[in-house]
Amino acid sequence: MKKLGVALVGVGQRGLQHLQALSDLKDEELVSIQALVDPFKENLDNNKIKSYVSNYDEKGVKYFTEFNEMIESVDVDAIWFVIPPNQHKNEIIYAAEKGVAIFAEKPQSLFLDEVFPMAEAIEKNNVPSICGFQMEYDTWYSKVRDYLSDKEVASIMMVNCGAVETHGVKHTVISKNEGPQDRIWTADRKWSGTSMVEAGIHQTDLMRFWTNDEIEWVTANYVERPMHLQDKEGNNPIAYHVSYGLKKGGIANLT
Ligand SMILES: NC(=O)c1ccc[n+]([C@@H]2O[C@H](COP(=O)([O-])OP(=O)(O)OC[C@H]3O[C@@H](n4cnc5c(N)ncnc54)[C@H](O)[C@@H]3O)[C@@H](O)[C@H]2O)c1
Repeated sequence: MKKLGVALVGVGQRGLQHLQALSDLKDEELVSIQALVDPFKENLDNNKIKSYVSNYDEKGVKYFTEFNEMIESVDVDAIWFVIPPNQHKNEIIYAAEKGVAIFAEKPQSLFLDEVFPMAEAIEKNNVPSICGFQMEYDTWYSKVRDYLSDKEVASIMMVNCGAVETHGVKHTVISKNEGPQDRIWTADRKWSGTSMVEAGIHQTDLMRFWTNDEIEWVTANYVERPMHLQDKEGNNPIAYHVSYGLKKGGIANLT
């Protein structure tokens, strides 16, 4: 069987988890890892990568700091995009136009007007694509969808309590004059679009998935993080209430 030739764009916290899965598939001779792309050379260091992915094998893998150089010089069947949402620069459109299959981590952008051209390029070129909403594939979540499949949902609510930003380690290098002092990009609103976007997108997706519905309208209220914490910790609000109106008539709430 021909192995699927893949490239990984973004070798950070989540990218290394995907690289683990890809390395396991490589051990089973199902994929061939052709290239890694990351703008920061320290993230392409084999010793660093192997400290996270013990069975990673660099033989035959090409390294790039520029996406365009990779896609022009390496023949790949599929690309995994695992970069912060505000760092995308039409790479997904370019890959779709080249006929390359796409796995893209959520969210691919913080702006709808950037996402529509990506969807159009994917549809026009008919390339297989999927977004990183892995919870849909967990049995305990898919069972809820099965249970609700013959029911109409009038109201649904998810409550998420925890740290405003999850994942204490991020590998994107944020310059000293940008973002919070702790250098975790998810804590900065212009990088993450707020924690409700960066993390709450999963619960939002689950409520769409469970109700087999789409969102018609949104209202939101939130509480700002205290000003004296913003320089150090970031400027995401600390609490949110979001209501989604669903197309079939139900209401979904996320807190
Ligand atoms: N599905 C999930 O459960 C899940 C979990 C974690 C993260 N994510 C998503 O994955 C994405 C990446 O998050 P992360 O936690 O890995 O962050 P991270 O900062 O740890 O890693 C991002 C990596 O991308 C690299 N990068 C930045 N700009 C790039 C570019 N233009 N081209 C190539 N590489 C680039 C950075 O150097 C870094 O190594 C985010 O969109 C995040 O929301 C999804």
